[in-house]
Amino acid sequence: MRVGILTGGGDAAGLNAAIRAVARKAFAVGGEVVGVRNGWAGLVGTADLRPIIPRDVSGILAQGGTILGSSRVNPLADPAALERVRANLAEGGLDALVAIGGDDTLKVANALAAAGAPVVGVPKTMDNDLQVTEYCIGFDSAVAVVTEAVDRLHTTAASHHRVMVVEVMGRDTGWVALMGGLAGGADMIVIPEFPVELAAIAGHLEERRAQGKDFSILVIAEGAEVGGLAAFDLSGAPRDAFGHVQLSRRGIGERVAQEIEAQTGFETRTTVLGHTQRGGSPTPYDRIWATRVGAVAYDLVVQGRFGEIPVKRGDDVVPAAIADVVAGPRRVPAALYELARIFY
Ligand code: F6P
Repeated sequence: MRVGILTGGGDAAGLNAAIRAVARKAFAVGGEVVGVRNGWAGLVGTADLRPIIPRDVSGILAQGGTILGSSRVNPLADPAALERVRANLAEGGLDALVAIGGDDTLKVANALAAAGAPVVGVPKTMDNDLQVTEYCIGFDSAVAVVTEAVDRLHTTAASHHRVMVVEVMGRDTGWVALMGGLAGGADMIVIPEFPVELAAIAGHLEERRAQGKDFSILVIAEGAEVGGLAAFDLSGAPRDAFGHVQLSRRGIGERVAQEIEAQTGFETRTTVLGHTQRGGSPTPYDRIWATRVGAVAYDLVVQGRFGEIPVKRGDDVVPAAIADVVAGPRRVPAALYELARIFY
């Protein structure tokens, strides 16, 4: 059996662990493995495939990024491109493709599977907002980065009696902000699911001051809405092939920081964690679960269960329909948000 592996969308720590797991499972039964270069970009034109041999996946478990490269190329934008992908899979002699990605990549995988192509998914997104699965590759490592940053910012905030605004990734959902903020003991967390007013942020910081707390850490997701800020004009901002604007261009962290300083008099600084949340070596949790879902993805291929994806449920990895996993973002529930507020 000849199996292709592709990584699409934003990279995330743990991708290489998943690639290695799929490949090792294949090698164990004499299978052949082919890497698709740079996500769907490697299949929309002249196919960019390269054989993967055992040596290629040696020593990559702890390595960040993806040895295959990634991109945000979107074959769904053009029916001819989707057809080209199908043709490339057939011409490349691939019996199956394992597509490792988040919402965007998996929507393409789902469309291909619906059209009869032999595609299996693997859940990856540091945003952790896919439906059905309790685990997405890269989330734990991203939370670890945020937690360490919040820990470090605590000591400097306390020394200077400042407010530190920490902007983290999170387009539609606030999982990284919420979990990183919880783990780091943030004094306020602002996420897309629960918009807040600027006045409420300033009021909270004033309350803390009245309690003798002369420094604070505020974690904010890049896609959060803050009432009272002048509207963002993103009309000219670059968009990727899936239509997403680069949210870091909003600069919401710095804009909130300036308002905090103006409204409360607290000296305020902003740290934008950006792509540090996606880079670097995966945590043990990401290595283990990426390995587990990657291994089951190969089993699904062997069983011919195309259009399916291995997901974490409790301590098990179980198959689910890709269509269900990409059915809208999974949002932070109110109970978790309320839990974080207890510690403000
Ligand atoms: O899709 C995951 C994500 O990490 C989002 O949270 C973020 O908005 C986006 O990627 C940024 O991606 P890039 O800078 O690679 O386009």
